[in-house]
Amino acid sequence: MADIQERDKLIKEWIAETAEKIEAAKSERLNVEEKSARNDLVTNMDKQIEKELTEKIRIQFPNDRICGEEGFGDELEDLDGTVWFIDPIDGTLNFVLQQENFAVMIGVYENGIGQQGYIYDVTQKRLYHAVKGQGVYCNEEPVEKPENKSLTEGLLATNSQLMTKDQFSEYRKLADQSMGVRMLGSAGLEVIELAKGNVVGYIASKLSPWDIAPGKVILEEFGFKIRQFDGTEVNLLNRNKAIFATPRAYDEIMTNIS
Ligand code: 2AM
Ligand code: CA
Repeated sequence: MADIQERDKLIKEWIAETAEKIEAAKSERLNVEEKSARNDLVTNMDKQIEKELTEKIRIQFPNDRICGEEGFGDELEDLDGTVWFIDPIDGTLNFVLQQENFAVMIGVYENGIGQQGYIYDVTQKRLYHAVKGQGVYCNEEPVEKPENKSLTEGLLATNSQLMTKDQFSEYRKLADQSMGVRMLGSAGLEVIELAKGNVVGYIASKLSPWDIAPGKVILEEFGFKIRQFDGTEVNLLNRNKAIFATPRAYDEIMTNIS
């Protein structure tokens, strides 16, 4: 098994190189394509970053497997061994429409257990990361564990579908119980908001393994709950309706939606 510190150093170097590439490409024209819908986009940068990261991982760690959004990784049927989760750009719609509020994310799991999580807010130049059991850091400074606030005491983050689609109308009552709703359009940046204590929960109707895996490592360091809407563990081989919350907010959310 790889040395965690060596892997940590490499991941940070790779994220820094990726950020430089994104910066350098700012003046170039983006090539944008639709995937499943008009608001589900992919750009040449998403593809290029994932391709380069997977190549670097394969050179250094040829026995590891990779689960990535843009298809340069492996087809996974289990989480045995070391699995890397890569979201080259989390918040692609923001990247295209705002040129900010997006993140590069990497998670490393061993036999299904999160070991390392990295979320880099590219325009803010802030890297949040956690190595299991070693706390959460922002640009190498320790992040203080947020208070275990309840839903009624705090703000609730969601994805926009949860607020707009009638099939999710029962979740709107959670919004009502909270102090208010916030929406950033990037699962990774919502995880950062949770880690900072700015929101007490994030609920999202459709998150893929690469949207969840890196942030799960970070939030588990703080004892937060990361579960599917039915209370079961998230499935990192599939899409999930997911809840990320402080323990108190999680209990209130579960009481109210079941
Ligand atoms: P992405 O930008 O990497 O696709 C937006 O609400 C959040 O949900 C983002 O983190 C986005 O990640 C994720 N997401 C997952 N599936 C999505 C989809 N089909 N369309 C838009 N966002 C999606
Ligand atoms: Ca993405």
